[in-house]
Amino acid sequence: MSFDHICSTDPAIYSAIQAETRRQSEGMELIASENYQSAAVLEAQSSVFANKYSEWFPGRRYYGWQENTDTIEQLAIDRAKTLFHADHANVQALSGAAANLCVYAALLEPGDTILGMDLSHGGHLTHGAPVTFFSKVFNFIRYKTLPSGEIDFDEVRRLAHEHKPKMILAWFSAYPRELDYDQFVAIAHEVGAIAYADISHIGGLVAAGVLANPLDHGFHAMMTTTHKSLRGPRGALILSKGTVSNPLKKPDQTIENIPTIIDRAVFPGMQGGPHMQTIAAIAVALHEAATPEFKTYALQTITNASVMAEEFISRGYKLVTGWTDNHMVIIDFSDCDYDGKDAEVALDHIGISTSKSTIPDDPRPPFRPSGLRIGMPAMTTRGVDETWTRLIVDFIDRALAHQHDKNYLNQLKDEVVTFCKHYPVPSVSL
Ligand SMILES: Cc1ncc(COP(=O)(O)O)c(C=O)c1O
Repeated sequence: MSFDHICSTDPAIYSAIQAETRRQSEGMELIASENYQSAAVLEAQSSVFANKYSEWFPGRRYYGWQENTDTIEQLAIDRAKTLFHADHANVQALSGAAANLCVYAALLEPGDTILGMDLSHGGHLTHGAPVTFFSKVFNFIRYKTLPSGEIDFDEVRRLAHEHKPKMILAWFSAYPRELDYDQFVAIAHEVGAIAYADISHIGGLVAAGVLANPLDHGFHAMMTTTHKSLRGPRGALILSKGTVSNPLKKPDQTIENIPTIIDRAVFPGMQGGPHMQTIAAIAVALHEAATPEFKTYALQTITNASVMAEEFISRGYKLVTGWTDNHMVIIDFSDCDYDGKDAEVALDHIGISTSKSTIPDDPRPPFRPSGLRIGMPAMTTRGVDETWTRLIVDFIDRALAHQHDKNYLNQLKDEVVTFCKHYPVPSVSL
């Protein structure tokens, strides 16, 4: 992509773009929620759709001249519905956090109870962390994992029967295993709750059909961000079964009306004009996600993560839940004399990006947690396979073993840069 105009009009921003391009190209991205967008997705995002206001939905906009915006939004909706086996898709939420707020606003009343995963056990901030605005509006009850890191369904059931939540929330930000969706749905039915899945992390893997889809197991609604394993722009899809009834009439608050209620909660309930350039890019990303190449990518991501788990285990590392079924592994350093933050800093030093993470019942404080979350979506996009995944583990292992030796880390950084040059970031030329 050319930046000739910014180069001449705004050198400060241009030089920051160049520096970030170099950082991304020479560094290794192992943050589980990050990925690289294709050139086509980036082009759609910088298109003239950024100039247009398109409040409301295709075929019934507030402003005129919407034939092209209707085309791209309808394509995004249709592609999302097909990929995620949904009857209805809203593609306008500005991000995952905004989408969760829209879903809560749609399906709940202020003060209603939501049963979601505790942040320190892998939940997201928007699943009820006390620091969020959400937690002031809704009454969040938080379940936790077993000490092994896996879901404790007895505890989920016990809390559901005790607190009678209106919504039970599945999926998280730091959980390396498949989920038993039938158990969540069964518990939701027992207490009359809405079963809602926030599959932001695994959206691409579900779209590719390599991980199970909560909607196929009876979940009432589901949300995914579009920029993690799905490899699109920053945005979100809200998906459900059922169809939109009369959008002009306030619908009854019933399960059948979920699509209408969600659309109305997004606009005019929570948002103004949708970001049409992002919706164009979402449509492109969904088109890419429907290809056989994307399925191969999704399978390779999971293979790479499991090879990574195997390699860490063979080198004596402890993993949360002992394994991975998806794109991430979480290393548990609770027995070590260093923590997840120390590990993150050592790896930053050699150009490898990861994120510290809490482990179940972490004995350490949240800003110095005992875990490190590592994900393979981004480096798999760059073409890394099983063999080279083992070398990545070797880089990490050596960095952690020599974390106090700056000379050693500097030399290791050179090796990482050389490695990364063999795997260019798609759409980037230096
Ligand atoms: C499970 C989950 N939900 C929601 C979000 C929020 O998404 P965004 O950062 O797009 O607002 C995240 C982001 O990491 C997430 O992991």
